[in-house]
Formats: sequence, C-alpha cells, structure tokens
Amino acid sequence: METKNIGLRGIEVADTKISNIDGEKGKLIYRGFDILDLTKNSTFEETAYLLLYDKLPTKQELNEFNGKLVEARYIPKQMQKNMENWRGDADPMDMLQAFVSALAGYYDEEFSSKDASYEKAINLIAKVPTIIASWHRIRNGLEIIDPESSLGHAANFLYMMSGEKPDPEVEKIFDVCLILHADHTFNASTFTARQVASTRAHMYSASSAAIGALSGELHGGANTEVMKMLLEISEINKVDSWIKEKLSQGEKVMGMGHAVYKTYDPRAQVLKELSRKLAAKSGEQWFEMTEKIETATILEMKSQKGKDIYPNVDLYSASIYYMLKIPVDLNTPIFAISRVAGWAAHIIEEKFAEAAPKTALYRPKAVYVGKYCGPQGCEYKTLDLRK
Ligand code: COA
Repeated sequence: METKNIGLRGIEVADTKISNIDGEKGKLIYRGFDILDLTKNSTFEETAYLLLYDKLPTKQELNEFNGKLVEARYIPKQMQKNMENWRGDADPMDMLQAFVSALAGYYDEEFSSKDASYEKAINLIAKVPTIIASWHRIRNGLEIIDPESSLGHAANFLYMMSGEKPDPEVEKIFDVCLILHADHTFNASTFTARQVASTRAHMYSASSAAIGALSGELHGGANTEVMKMLLEISEINKVDSWIKEKLSQGEKVMGMGHAVYKTYDPRAQVLKELSRKLAAKSGEQWFEMTEKIETATILEMKSQKGKDIYPNVDLYSASIYYMLKIPVDLNTPIFAISRVAGWAAHIIEEKFAEAAPKTALYRPKAVYVGKYCGPQGCEYKTLDLRK
C-alpha cells in the first residue's frame, strides 16, 4: 500500500483568517491586504499589528503598539550573561530557539489566557531582535548595545547588531524584507507552531518549536545556503557549469522552487528589485550572480527534467542581507525576526478560535510499514537468548 498525502501536500488541515496564497497567480495576502500594497505603504510594526488584531490600526492604536514594542525590547541582563557560556561558533538559530524558550522562565507570569498570549506575542516580536543582536555582539567579543527607543523595529535591529544607525534607504529596504517574511499560511514553521499550540502549549513553547522548524535548509535555512552558494561559486562565469553539475547530480538549488507557488513568488519579485538597487549602489556582483543562478536553474530544470521552476523568497534576500553587511549566519535568524509576528497570530488563532475558524488537536494517521510478525506480534526473547 502506498502512503497517500506524503508531507501533507494539498491537504486542508484547518481554517485560517490570517493569510492566503494564490499559488497559480503568485499572490499573497495578509488579512485581505496584498503584500505588494503593504510593502509600498506599510511598516513592519503596522503589518504585525494587522496580523495579530485582524485590522489596520488607527494612529493612536499604532502609537500604543509601537510604545509596547519599544518597552518590551529589553531582555534580562541575566539572559545576556548566560549567553556568554555558549560556544562562540554556536549556530545563532540554536541560540535563538533556546533563549526564546527560556523567556518563559524569566518572569513569574500567567500564560494561558488570550490576553496573556497577546502580551507574550508583543514580548516575542520585541525581544527576538534583541536576543539575536546580543548574541552576535557577545560572540564577537563586543559590547552589547541596548535598544534605541527613537528607532523603528528594522532600524533598531541593524543598530543593535552593528552599532551604526542605518540611513533611511537601508532602513526602508530592511523594513520591506521584514514585511515580506511576516507570514505565509501553513508553511513548515507556522504549521509547527500551530501544531504545538493545538495541545494548548503556551506562546514561547510553540514559537521555539517553530524556530527549530525554520532552521532547516529546506525552509528558512535556505537563505543562508543561498549565500554560501554565491560565495562558493564566486565568479559569474562559473554559474552555468556549477548549476548544471549540481542538478545533474540530483542536488537542489537553494532559493529555487516552492511547494505552493507554481509561478514567480511575489516576494521574490520585490526582493529581486531591492537586490538590484543595492548592487547598483555598491557595485557588488551579488545581484547579477543571483540573477544568473535563476536563469541557469530555470533552463537546466527544463532541459534535464522538463520541469518549470521559479525563485522563492530566499533567492534574492541572501544577496540583500550580504550587501547590508549582515553576517551570513544571521540570514535565517532575520527571517525569524519577521516570521515571529505570523507565528504569534497563528498560535492565538489556533488556541482561541471561537465559532470560526474551527481548530482541533492535530493527530494525523501514520501508515505503518515496519515489521509485522503476525497477529501475536513478534516473539520477545530475553537478552541471553538473543543472537
Ligand atoms: N532544485 C532542484 N530541484 C528541485 C528544486 C530545487 N530547488 N525544487 C524542486 N525541485 C524538484 C523536486 O526535487 C521535484 O523533483 P522530482 O519530481 O524529480 O522528485 C520537482 O522539482 C517538483 O518539486 P515540487 O513538487 O514543485 O516542490 P516540492 O514541494 O517537492 O519542494 C521545496 C518544495 C521548497 C522543498 C523545494 O523546491 C526545495 O527544496 N527548494 C530548495 C530549498 C528552498 O529554497 N527552500 C525554501 C522554500 S521557501
């Protein structure tokens, strides 16, 4: 018997009001709003509010929300001290997962109500950038930089990481990147968060599980792998042969392909233009090289496998972060800085859905293909009788 539904592709598992993908048309909406519209007119903070509260905020609501985020940006000094015990070359995603989980142990708090979950959501959105920036400074033997209340979410992270306040253009580019990564329906990490939340586990627990899922190279880890690929290829004229060889060996090209989009990922379109813009300014080769990878992969996939393939969100974000002087291994943690807003919205929806959307504890069915010795089961032999 062949297992149906491997990887749950195309299987509907729950209702959601948070976001929707039209994989054929290449469209993504958050709470009804086209992400292309949001990237032009919104900010990450406003988009996070929209995802959490299912409405665009009024001026006063946004001010209050921003105020709460600014206040919640600090992390316990003891947590920063604990980071000093970690190996300097530890993966930042492992560190992030551990310290997001640890947040639950730093305060004497209430976890189970809806109000408490919103509070934790704000806390997480505010603290994830500080955890990442603190760790980055510690591992490089640098002074930790406290959050700067006058800066927006995007600019504040860049400042805490590098010690330099970004110019408005860089701030806007990074803010757009955060908007684009904030939610994406039931992707692997969000589904993980929902699955954990469906057991009624709390916000920090479900989010740390999601961080684990995001770290894998077939999901959020792909942007780090894209940059490693660009650095490995290193010269534009080597792209074609490199891609040809990888695909003929049955390997995957990171940043290409998607489980849902059967056309160009709309996020990749925006990111491609941002990468082009940054490269035009800096004169670096990374945009041109990425574009060549896109073209070569499309051509090779067609000729080797007769299949169409398109870039996903990770292809062009890698070069953008590199040109913004962000260390390669922070690419995936940056994804988490943004996606935590989506996770939080989904965790709240999963736990507190009233009449609709309908949710239930996830419990899929497995197809057992292991040993079967008959109706009595396999014969158990004590240790000394086993060979
Ligand atoms: N490089 C080479 N081949 C790829 C590919 C890639 N990036 N993406 C898909 N394919 C191949 C698959 O292996 C599959 O081949 P097969 O039929 O011979 O087994 C075929 O194309 C169809 O794949 P599809 O069903 O469209 O996608 P999927 O759901 O199996 O995989 C991903 C989706 C995201 C896991 C896959 O595209 C991938 O691994 N991409 C690289 C990692 C990445 O960038 N992840 C970030 C996603 S946002």
